[in-house]
Amino acid sequence: MNNDPFWDFYWETRLQFLQGQGKGEVIQQASRLMRQSTAPMRILEAGCGEAQIIGSLVEAHGSSTGEHTSIGIDRDLSALAVARKTYPAIRFLEGDFTDTELLQSLGQFDLLLLVNALHHVFSDAYNPDMGEIDVPWGKTNVHSSFSTLAACVSPGGYLILFDGLEAEGSPERQIRIRFQNSEAWQKFQIFAQEYKPFKINFQKESESNTITIRHRDFTRYVTKIIFLGKSLWERERHESYQYFNMHEMQEMLTDNGFVTQEFRLLSVDYDHWLQDVEILTPGVEFPPEHVMITARKTSS
Ligand SMILES: C[S@@+](CC[C@H](N)C(=O)[O-])C[C@H]1O[C@@H](n2cnc3c(N)ncnc32)[C@H](O)[C@@H]1O
Repeated sequence: MNNDPFWDFYWETRLQFLQGQGKGEVIQQASRLMRQSTAPMRILEAGCGEAQIIGSLVEAHGSSTGEHTSIGIDRDLSALAVARKTYPAIRFLEGDFTDTELLQSLGQFDLLLLVNALHHVFSDAYNPDMGEIDVPWGKTNVHSSFSTLAACVSPGGYLILFDGLEAEGSPERQIRIRFQNSEAWQKFQIFAQEYKPFKINFQKESESNTITIRHRDFTRYVTKIIFLGKSLWERERHESYQYFNMHEMQEMLTDNGFVTQEFRLLSVDYDHWLQDVEILTPGVEFPPEHVMITARKTSS
């Protein structure tokens, strides 16, 4: 099942542009697992969007995947229309990946891909009366949706989870930061006004671009500001990538019978950040942009 030369060719000709991006890391990691496997792997991608990930894997690995038995689920019909047209060898379902009955009807899979998907479950817990995400409700929903999805993974099967990560310690703790230039300061103010999942409160020190802000909100700023001024901002400003810290992620995996094989933090571009922001609180670092977790379901 090891088709390295073809994979190298496929990567170079079709996916090279994803080099260094989170999605590219996920595809490479999944491909590695598939090439190591002695049997075809049936894949489930929950929240597959236009299916670039599951589609590339099935296309590149052909008979070493569960071609025709792999499934992508999404609730966005227009994304699925693109997926179906681009990757006809995969079955795509329009549906809600938190729907227990739907998932139970699909059988078992050898690889579950959750790429930028679970944070939608958390973001869906936005409470209009509070004007924010209801955090305990959101966390409970993520945990129970994950349990439903995890039940679809066969013993010995794999999970690749890619998403945001909340920093350890209290997300409510206050930190001091200074904007290094007026453009960064202006952009922050627009972010603070327009970002929906949480009210971004901050205190500005007079005569300087120094503010005090909750660590939670700083993390959102660092991971979302890249979209400001772009067309994706309209969608991105409604989503919180972060929902669990490392400890909570591990707990969710263990509770559902997974053993973590790799917990890889994908870091921000520190050089870029240092030009815009200085963190004045000792011991506080720029947060990682994403985490990619590879885990295996225990056999028993
Ligand atoms: C950020 S996109 C990621 C797409 C794909 N995984 C990728 O990385 O290219 C998240 C997708 O999850 C879908 N989604 C979010 N919540 C969902 C739910 N509860 N059920 C089904 N699809 C969902 C959205 O429609 C969207 O297409």
